[in-house]
Amino acid sequence: EKGPFPFYMLKEINEQPAVLRRLAQDYLDESGKPVIEPDLLAALDQADRLYILAAGTSYNAGLAAKSVFETLANIPVEVGLASEFGYNTPLLSKKPFFLFLSQSGETADSRQVLVKVNEWGYPSLTMTNAQGSTLSREATYTMLLNAGPEIAVASTKAYTAQIALQTILAKGLGEKRGVKSAQDFNVREQLGLVANGMQTIIDEKDFINQLAQNYLATTRNAFYIGRGYDYAVSLEAALKLKEISYVQAEGFAGAELKHGTISLIEDGTPVIAIITDARVASHTRGNIQEVRARGAHVLTIAMEAVADKEDNLILADIDPLISPLLSVVPTQLLAYYTSLNRGYDVDKPRNLAKAVTVE
Ligand code: M6R
Repeated sequence: EKGPFPFYMLKEINEQPAVLRRLAQDYLDESGKPVIEPDLLAALDQADRLYILAAGTSYNAGLAAKSVFETLANIPVEVGLASEFGYNTPLLSKKPFFLFLSQSGETADSRQVLVKVNEWGYPSLTMTNAQGSTLSREATYTMLLNAGPEIAVASTKAYTAQIALQTILAKGLGEKRGVKSAQDFNVREQLGLVANGMQTIIDEKDFINQLAQNYLATTRNAFYIGRGYDYAVSLEAALKLKEISYVQAEGFAGAELKHGTISLIEDGTPVIAIITDARVASHTRGNIQEVRARGAHVLTIAMEAVADKEDNLILADIDPLISPLLSVVPTQLLAYYTSLNRGYDVDKPRNLAKAVTVE
């Protein structure tokens, strides 16, 4: 039930802090150590490469988690679009492990890869919100997102739940492998900080609605820019805006602007910049100057540690490695309000179904 919310999407955005707290409860013991099926950890430990396969928002959750696995668990990761991977399979490593991300567990593009993976005899894990779903039944292992039903076609809480659960898994694997960065990463504390930070953003939703009105009310296109972790989240931010508000939106790696993209910027073009990582903050700020000089209407979302007083939205400080968990929330709200203010059916965008069961 939607309760006091006009649309499921807003309800599901609001549920994200609780979803993260529940994941921490379900998958961490009292001392904050991940509780993961030993057979699954052993199989992952033997793998020399992790292949993450998914579609749409779940694919974007894989992109956001690539650095998390590589940093915390010291395992090389390849993230693939399931629809491409099955028919254009890259050369596989000697001991691959396959991770399927799927909210519904029914996505046909992902399933066709899993069928092949099973024929090849490789181990697999499905992370899904749907117990007993096809992808869950057919994979070797399953981890449930426990996010509660996601009804809105635009996926929100599944994205953050997938990143959080992958982070817990990466921490568990890293500890098993004795990786120092995993030992040093306090996943329980970090997820708590994220949940609180999400709540702060959600409490500012009326202000975010104003920003949506100021920047996105009538535009036909918009750009998200960022580097590294902020680039990964830019892709999801753009997908959300496209999907429900029908704005032609794209996420760009900040540095790529000068390699062609910047020619798209005109007077008044909305450019939303995400800045969470000190290593690249000043470079992204440089990219902001470049687009501003060409007339862009720039909105900035920055993490406190790297924020300027002119930034429009400030995110609480968390480890930048998992910043997409937090930085995605204002972009979900920007998409939501843009769609709402244009009078669209936010939960049921045209031409789309919640689960895509054809290839
Ligand atoms: O159920 P899945 O996670 O496998 O679905 C994958 C995509 O179809 C899905 O994420 C889609 O892109 C969403 N509508 C995006 O909001």
